[in-house]
Parts: sequence; C-alpha cells; structure tokens
Amino acid sequence: MGNIILTGDRPTGNLHLGHYIGSLKNRVKLQNEGNYDKMYIMIADAQALTDNFDNPKKIQDNLYNVMLDYLSVGLDPNKVTFFIQSQVSELTELTFYYMNLVTLSRLQRNPTVKNEIRQKSFNESIPTGFLCYPISQTADITAFKANVIPVGNDQLPMIEQANEIVNTFNRIYGETLIKCEGYLEKNEIAQRLPGLDGNAKMSKSLNNGIFLSDSSEEVYKKVMSMYTDENHIRIDDPGKVEGNMVFTYLDVFSTDDQIKKYSDFNSLDDMKKKYQEGGLGDVKIKKILYSILEELLTPIREKRKYYENNMDVVKDILKKGTIQARKEAQKTLEEVKRSIGINYFE
Ligand code: TRP
Repeated sequence: MGNIILTGDRPTGNLHLGHYIGSLKNRVKLQNEGNYDKMYIMIADAQALTDNFDNPKKIQDNLYNVMLDYLSVGLDPNKVTFFIQSQVSELTELTFYYMNLVTLSRLQRNPTVKNEIRQKSFNESIPTGFLCYPISQTADITAFKANVIPVGNDQLPMIEQANEIVNTFNRIYGETLIKCEGYLEKNEIAQRLPGLDGNAKMSKSLNNGIFLSDSSEEVYKKVMSMYTDENHIRIDDPGKVEGNMVFTYLDVFSTDDQIKKYSDFNSLDDMKKKYQEGGLGDVKIKKILYSILEELLTPIREKRKYYENNMDVVKDILKKGTIQARKEAQKTLEEVKRSIGINYFE
C-alpha cells in the first residue's frame, strides 16, 4: 500500500511566512512528488472551537482565509482532498470510542496541551473538549488510514498519542487501525521562523509576521521595520549577522542566484562578510530581502486574487472534498464498530 498523507490547520487566522516555510512549501513538494495514494488537507474548525468555543465567528471568518492561503500557495485540488473537520461527523463518533482508551492523566501529560493550557491561562477551568483534542486528532488521522503526517515539531506528542491509541485499540479489539509518522521540515530555522522583531516565533498574536495575503506595500513596510543589529548604527560600523532577522530570513528564503540578481554580491556568504566588516547598510539589505520575498509572494497574491473572485469555485472544492472525505471516514467507522462488536444491524 502506498502512503496516505493527512494534515490540517486550525482556522484561527491568516497564514504567514512562518507557515509557508515551515509547512506549506513542504506540502506543495509532497503533492508534486506524487509518492502517495491520497493526500488530505483538513481545516480543523472543530479543533479550533475547543479553545475558541465562545468566539465561533472567528473560526467562521478564517475558514475561507485559510482555504485561500492553501490554494494561493499552489496546493492543487486535483491532487489534494480538502475538507472541513466539523462536517465529517464520523470523526466525532470515532473520538467517542477512542476516549475510553486514554486516561485523564495521560492527556494532562501531553506537553503541547500542557503548554497551551499555560498560555491560555485556563488555570483550573480546562474545558474537557480542549483536553481531549489529541484524541479527536487521532480520529482525524486514523479515519483516513493516514500514515504520513506533515506537521510542526510541536505536534509530535499528538502523533505519539495517536499511535498509543492505535496500539491499544488493536490490542483490545483486533488489528483495525493504522499507525502513523510525523513528517517534519528539516531546516531548523524554517521549522520555527522567528518574528520580524526577533521574537522566538512569528505569530499573529505578537503582530510580528508577514502574511501571505499582505500587499506589496505592507510587506515593504514590515521588512523595513525588521530587527537587525542595534549596534550597527552607521553604515561603516561592523554588523552582526547572528540574530539579525534580515540575514535569518535570507538564510531560508534566498538562493545565491537571487542574491546575484538583486545585489552586487555573488552569494549570501559574501554579503554577510561585507556586513560583518562594515560598509553595508540596513536599508540596502532590507531592500534585497524585500525583492526576494516579493518574488515568492507575487504569484501567491495573483492566485489568491483569482480565487477571491471565484469564491463559488473555492466553496465547491471544499464541498466535494468533504463529501469524499466523509465516505472514507464512514468506512473506517464501520470497521471500528465491527471490531468493537457494535455493528448490530449488519
Ligand atoms: N493540531 C493541528 C494544529 O494545531 C491541527 C490538526 C488537527 C492536525 N487535526 C490534525 C494536524 C491531524 C495533523 C493531523 O496545527
């Protein structure tokens, strides 16, 4: 059997360059390599509700934003099945049976969940739905018999938990579910792109990101505001490359051909050397980065515009994908019920 790839995102905001370099780019690569039987991308609106249940409008508003981000980076509905989690109710049913296989203390030990609980200051009032989202994520994965899960490394505890549930299920009810593996971006900076301000992570809430949907003017302004080296005051001062966001971004977004095209340097290394010696100004390096980012973002913007003007097409892609996904999930749910022995009318 070939690979079945599945991944997803919570629709809580527009996707940014961090998402692009950390995961969307890889998904496009996987899609085009074609080494799979099926590839699914799920908009995890139900999971997003587990910590935004009091603000469903935020999820609704962002569902199509995220879908437009997917399509605009070149994810192709002819190769990928896109679907909406909440519309595949089989996932909820699977979750219910898997819940019996996981203890409360196991859920409380999940490091990603622990972290989120701290960040969201739930304190003692943790919604059970939120605590159980790793179980629901296991349902997302196993319903499609997915074995390759492209995710960020913060999601590895979810993969581990999924495989534990699969093992427990198969042991008690007989071989039914398939185990999975995370597929990670290898470049460490790309895995966790820092924000424009040098903050540990690009994020919507920190307002330190460049969104795939930002206009050219917005990108220019943001690049000009990037954190470089506070001791690099005059052009002739020697500058630091480490921790300098312009160089960090050039490291992951540029090729030497682009450096040649947009500067007088032959390579990024030459450009770094000059900056370290002194004599290369911040505005200049920012303009080079801006040109390189624009080369990436311009076609993304154009695709987005096309889909924005054809929202009926976008809706149709999601609708068709969701119907297909549901059929697959139904099959797995039937197998699961059969294994447990609750297939009374079969
Ligand atoms: N938890 C993931 C995130 O926050 C989203 C997600 C939900 C997911 N279900 C999934 C990812 C299944 C991979 C597979 O980004």
